[in-house]
Amino acid sequence: MPTSELLSPLRTEIAGASVADLAGRFGTPVYVYDAEKILARVRDLARFDVIRYAQKACSNIAILDLVRRAGVLVDAVSAGEVHRALAAGFQPGTGKHAPIVYTADIFDRDALDLVIKLGLPVNCGSPDMIDQLGERAPGSNITLRINPGFGHGHSQKTNTGGEQSKHGIWHEQLDGCLQRADRHGLAVTGLHMHIGSGTDLEHLSQVCGALEKAALVVGRSITTISAGGGLPIPYREGQSFVDVDQYFGLWDATRRRLAESFGHAVTLEIEPGRYLVAESGYLVSEIRAIKQMGGNTFYLLDAGFNNLARPILYGAYHPMSVCRTGSASGAEPTFADVVVGGPLCESGDIFTQEEGGFVCKRSLPTAAVGDLLVIERAGAYGFAMASNYNSKPLPPEVLIRDGKPYLIRARQTPEDLMRGEVIPA
Ligand code: LLP
Repeated sequence: MPTSELLSPLRTEIAGASVADLAGRFGTPVYVYDAEKILARVRDLARFDVIRYAQKACSNIAILDLVRRAGVLVDAVSAGEVHRALAAGFQPGTGKHAPIVYTADIFDRDALDLVIKLGLPVNCGSPDMIDQLGERAPGSNITLRINPGFGHGHSQKTNTGGEQSKHGIWHEQLDGCLQRADRHGLAVTGLHMHIGSGTDLEHLSQVCGALEKAALVVGRSITTISAGGGLPIPYREGQSFVDVDQYFGLWDATRRRLAESFGHAVTLEIEPGRYLVAESGYLVSEIRAIKQMGGNTFYLLDAGFNNLARPILYGAYHPMSVCRTGSASGAEPTFADVVVGGPLCESGDIFTQEEGGFVCKRSLPTAAVGDLLVIERAGAYGFAMASNYNSKPLPPEVLIRDGKPYLIRARQTPEDLMRGEVIPA
């Protein structure tokens, strides 16, 4: 089981590169990723036959290339993610270990066209997808994403199971979906369940039984099962990783029982997003103002929810550290309880908040304007959910390998911000 590195409130380097140098060279805010952390998480999951990266967590093509070279395959939820996978060197193809699988609850028209053109395998999350694919590509193999009737996530917004969720094929409709597939000559060769993101071992474990039951309904055509994603990572001091070996053991036993009853091998896939990339990512920002509002001290950063939306969306907690750049840089830290906010013209632009928007304080080293504040464990659903709100450019992304920083995405320019906009004559 991997251990969680002790979080330190003062930080001078990321993966061997100086935080101050990174900020000086690339500007702030900037996303920085530690390649080695991603590769370490890939190694943790090596016992699964296939690690299929849920690229929605962080889809820069340099990150996709990194995991591809480590033997990881990829999941795509849109035509755009398929294009990214191709740009990163994944080959379209079917078969036992298809490099790219399209998993979604609908086909956009562009996604359906692309899937047909490339012959990509599809994991159908709605009965209508079976018909839409069957009409265009009769005779294909498909997999089905089943909603087992229960789910769990770190927030209600990331729970993807149960009847309040729009995800997957309702478990009681499996038989009807098999008949739909039959009508188009589609073979159902796999089942997939993903009950939510950032859940826990107890809930994840319940999926094995539900999947096994559904697989026995489908029968011998099943050659692949997918455990989905959802593995949590520790964001707070005291939290730990789930026991991956124990988790694998549960799924492996499920897979073995199915293989025995079908009389042929069954491939076991896992589809993590957060687990592979969360810890690797740091959002480095500069403190641009410090102000007192009644009893609250605010550190105001040049990064806001346009860069990292998880706190405003879910009340998500991210560890934070300070990199002192001025005269206090060598001094022992003194601490203050502060509220940390961003530059946006919206009062919810606060990184220290709980679900429901309740502002809270964080004990952080006392800092001065010009010091850097690093928001940590921001690699998953950080840049991927960034926006241009307030006409802020998307920040650059930097990948550190062997202590060397590589720019993997340039900061947007004012021209990028207005690309495609037209004033009618
Ligand atoms: N597979 C499917 C079908 C999914 O929908 C997801 C995530 C994953 C895999 C990967 O889940 P993970 O291993 O990362 O938990 N924006 C939210 C998370 C949304 C997850 C959406 N689906 C957040 O920032 O927490």
